Amino acid sequence: MTPAARAAAAMEVLDACLDGIPAEKALLNWSRGSRFAGSGDRAAVRDLVFSGLRRRRSAAAIGGAETGRGLVLGLLRQDGVDPDDIFTGERHAPPVLTHEERGAPPEGLPEPIRHDLPDWLWARFGSSLGDRAAEAAQALRDRAPVMLRVNRRRASLAEAISALADEGIAAEPHGQVATALRVVSGERRLTRSRAYLDGLVELQDAASQAAVARLPLRDGQSVLDYCAGGGGKALAMADRAALRIDAHDADDRRMRDIPARAARAGVKINMPDRLVRGRYDLVLVDAPCSGSGTWRRSPDAKWGLTPERLDELCALQAGILGEAARMVRPGGLLAYATCSVLEEENGGTVSRFLASHPGWSRRDEMRLLPGPDWDGFYLALLGGE
Ligand SMILES: C[S@@+](CC[C@H](N)C(=O)[O-])C[C@H]1O[C@@H](n2cnc3c(N)ncnc32)[C@H](O)[C@@H]1O
Repeated sequence: MTPAARAAAAMEVLDACLDGIPAEKALLNWSRGSRFAGSGDRAAVRDLVFSGLRRRRSAAAIGGAETGRGLVLGLLRQDGVDPDDIFTGERHAPPVLTHEERGAPPEGLPEPIRHDLPDWLWARFGSSLGDRAAEAAQALRDRAPVMLRVNRRRASLAEAISALADEGIAAEPHGQVATALRVVSGERRLTRSRAYLDGLVELQDAASQAAVARLPLRDGQSVLDYCAGGGGKALAMADRAALRIDAHDADDRRMRDIPARAARAGVKINMPDRLVRGRYDLVLVDAPCSGSGTWRRSPDAKWGLTPERLDELCALQAGILGEAARMVRPGGLLAYATCSVLEEENGGTVSRFLASHPGWSRRDEMRLLPGPDWDGFYLALLGGE
């Protein structure tokens, strides 16, 4: 496919997304009907679609319309590409620009548009992050880095880098998180590589790795991952010390990959049918949240969140923290984490928990903003009496 044909395909997919179809589904529908598209074409269309969704407000403003065509025109202008090279009207290319579309794009866009957030969320970014709100919002407009966690039971960082290089995947040490590698090129080969299939590396953002590194874990401890999902944090904890780890999730189906992932990593994760109260040295609550620290990976979510849904999430988080606290042994620890940068879901949820649970206190806190090194993340460590 030519660059112009790829742009036309991205417009079609973006139109479907704007009609409410999730991005992954819209891309799948398009690729099923486009057998002629090779893997490079699919990757290029995907990139354009995700850029369009991440920068939906600013691209629509600069492209003159909130349509697939307007978004792609806006993206090209933002990226300094001459739209006339793409809007040629030739076979499979988008029709040539109209007189209106050729008009000068607006200047001095309002802040929420420039930062690609709904108005109400830009205000919440401001109240949560103060003078770092713009930096965080801008990071969410760019593609996310690909990070790996080296499973140190299987390999050192140098061994993992070398095994990846043998299969054409270039990676380098993260530098700030001891277990993390940054993938420099070849990421599309990763999940088929021996290094991945043999458990030398796992896909995991450096923020999650930094959070697990901050937990005070010691050999012999009993740990519960209360919102285990696919088990990413449980696996990272298992790599840190000789722990007895139980995984739990309100939705069992979310945990179905844990046995295979644990086998690949050479660790044991239990999934008990029933949890025993007061049993665990540490309980981790990696809570359901808005995901605002990771919106560059799932940009549809940025536009779908409402103030009402955010309130519901905060209530859910408080309920889960209360349930999970009952599983901690006297004197044990409760770790609360989100991949959000919104303070109501982070310090706010923790403060509400502490206000209604005397005997618990805040022992440690970590806030990471999305940027080149990691996604946005929050961790609080709470101690019981
Ligand atoms: C952020 S995800 C967890 C991601 C996971 N820890 C990882 O590292 O891959 C949140 C999880 O919380 C689960 N969840 C939602 N409500 C819950 C509840 N009341 N009790 C336990 N888990 C719940 C969801 O099913 C979801 O899998």
